[in-house]
Amino acid sequence: MVAEASGSSRTRVLFVCLGNICRSPLAEGVFEHLVREAGLAEEFDIDSAGTGSWHVGEPPDTRASMVAREHGIELQSRARQVTAEDLSDFDYVVAMDRENLRSLERMAETTDATAEITLLRAYDPDPDGDEVPDPYYGGVSGFENVYDIVTRSCEGLLTRLRALASR
Ligand code: 4NP
Repeated sequence: MVAEASGSSRTRVLFVCLGNICRSPLAEGVFEHLVREAGLAEEFDIDSAGTGSWHVGEPPDTRASMVAREHGIELQSRARQVTAEDLSDFDYVVAMDRENLRSLERMAETTDATAEITLLRAYDPDPDGDEVPDPYYGGVSGFENVYDIVTRSCEGLLTRLRALASR
């Protein structure tokens, strides 16, 4: 979760999916975990949000929490809807699928957005697609697949951001 007000020198990363209860909370939790393991917790503010409002205020889906916990990660987010301000408050807004990306790009057209808006799988070193599939209507195996994709991609994202920071 975000701990700093905007204007800090930390790199601010927002993960976005549709409901903010499955994919983006997993990405938030995994990226936070990787950042902490790398000793870089002070360098980042990390959050997640959804393009939809149906689940605002809810904790992550129990299947997402269960899969994360199996990998030693406790998901602590509460769903919120992405805002126009997010597109200038964050440095990187990272979408799970093309529909999320389109929603964000439409929102950016009518605001003074400064964030770099990308697909998470642009950072996947071993991509077999460019989207993180929506696991909501499937079983737990879909969440395990999402966890694997999100972990690979978040590792790639962190590598990219560290390379940019060391320039
Ligand atoms: P998410 O998954 O976008 O990864 O959080 C979904 C959660 C809820 C719904 C769809 C996708 N829904 O239709 O309520």
